[in-house]
Amino acid sequence: MFENVPRAPEDSVFRIGRMFTECEDPLKVSCGIGAYRDNDGKPLVMDAVSEAKKRLHENPGWIHEYLPLGGHASFLKGAQKLALGDELYAEKSAEGKVGSLQTLSGTGALYVAGKMYSKFSPVKKALISNPTWGNHNAIFTNCGLEVSKYRYIDESCTSTPKLDLSGFLEDLEAADEGTLVLLQACAHNPTGVDPSQEEWMKVIEICVRKKLVVLLDNAYQGFATGDVEVDGFAIREFVKAGADIFVACSFAKNMGLYGERIGALHVVTNDKESCLDAVSQMKIISRTTYSNPPQFGALIADTILSDDKVYGVWKEQLAVMSERIKSMRGLLRGYLEAETGTDWSHITKQIGMFSYTGLTKEQCIHCREKGSLFMLETGRVSMAGLNEGNVERVAKVMAASIKG
Ligand code: LMR
Repeated sequence: MFENVPRAPEDSVFRIGRMFTECEDPLKVSCGIGAYRDNDGKPLVMDAVSEAKKRLHENPGWIHEYLPLGGHASFLKGAQKLALGDELYAEKSAEGKVGSLQTLSGTGALYVAGKMYSKFSPVKKALISNPTWGNHNAIFTNCGLEVSKYRYIDESCTSTPKLDLSGFLEDLEAADEGTLVLLQACAHNPTGVDPSQEEWMKVIEICVRKKLVVLLDNAYQGFATGDVEVDGFAIREFVKAGADIFVACSFAKNMGLYGERIGALHVVTNDKESCLDAVSQMKIISRTTYSNPPQFGALIADTILSDDKVYGVWKEQLAVMSERIKSMRGLLRGYLEAETGTDWSHITKQIGMFSYTGLTKEQCIHCREKGSLFMLETGRVSMAGLNEGNVERVAKVMAASIKG
C-alpha cells in the first residue's frame, strides 16, 4: 500500500526550523518557530518550572501510572482558574458550568474541540481569521469541517499590517448561525494584531447575537501584555456575556513547556447537565485518539498553578520575558527606520511573540539566503529570537531585502 502514498509537503514552521539547524553560518538567527529565547539566544527553563521539577524529584508523591481519561484533576482546576480569573472561576465551578479535558497542548485542545463540534453540531462550518496560524485550517479540515476565513488584516496596507475591524465584524455578521468561530484570545499568531478591549466587545456582541459557536485559542496568555489577567479579557467577557464557549489553552509558551505537550480544553456552558455531557464526549474523543494525556507536564503546571509562591515567581518572570520582547520591538523598529527611512511603527504597535513585518515572500527568502535570518515566508518574525546582540544585524538584513 505504501507505494500509493504521495509525499506530503513539509510543515511551514518546522521546515524553517530544520533549515536553521542545517545552516552553518555562525551569525544565523532563528525567528521562525514561536519559542522563547533569552538575551543570549538560548532556550529558557523558567525558574518556576525548575522549582516545580525540584519539588517533584525530592518529594515524588506520584508514580508512572495512567492519568484518568480527563487528565490531572488539580491541574485542570488551576487551568480553569487561570483562564477565567478567580471570580468567574468560583461562580462557574460552584454552578458546575465549567468542565475540562487535559489535552496535548493547544493543538490537541483545538482538535478535540473541532471534533466535538463536527460530531454534534448540525452546521459543519468553521471560520478562521485571514491570516491565521497555518495549522488552524488543517486541524479543522481534518475534523471534517468546511473552513472559510474572516477578514482580519487590512488589505490596503499590507506592508504596515493593522486590524480591518469593519471587515472582521461584517464577516462575523454574515456567518450562518451555529458556525464555529475561531478567535485568538490574545497575541494573535501570526500578526501580533489584537482587537482593543472596546473592539472585543463588538466582536462578542455579534457572536452572541448571531449564536456563533466560539472557540477561543488561548496559546499566549501572559505573553501579550505580560499580565495573565489582562490577557484573559476576551475569555472572561465572552463568559460574562452568557456565551457557551470552548477555550483551548496551551502551556507551551507561557510556561516554556513546549515539548511536554501540556494543555487544556475548557467548556463553559449555561447549564450543569450540558457541561457534564460535553466533558463526557470530550473524553471519548481523547480515548479513541490517544487514550489519555501525558503526566509530567501536568505535574509541573499543577505545582506552578496551585502553590502561591511558585505562581508568583512564574508570573513575575513571564512579565520580564514579555518586557524583553517589547524592548526588542523598540530596537528593531528604530534600526529599521534608520536603515530604510520609512515608518515601522506597526512593529511596536503589535504585541505578543510575533510581528507581522509586511515583508513579502521573496523578501523573506532573501533574508534567509543572503542574511541567514530565518523567519516564516509569510513575513512573520518570532520576536523572541531577537536579542541585543543580533537585532541591529537583523534590521540590516531586512532592510537589504527590501532594497533588493
Ligand atoms: C508557532 O506558530 O511557531 C508555534 O505555535 C509552533 C507551532 O506548532 O507551529
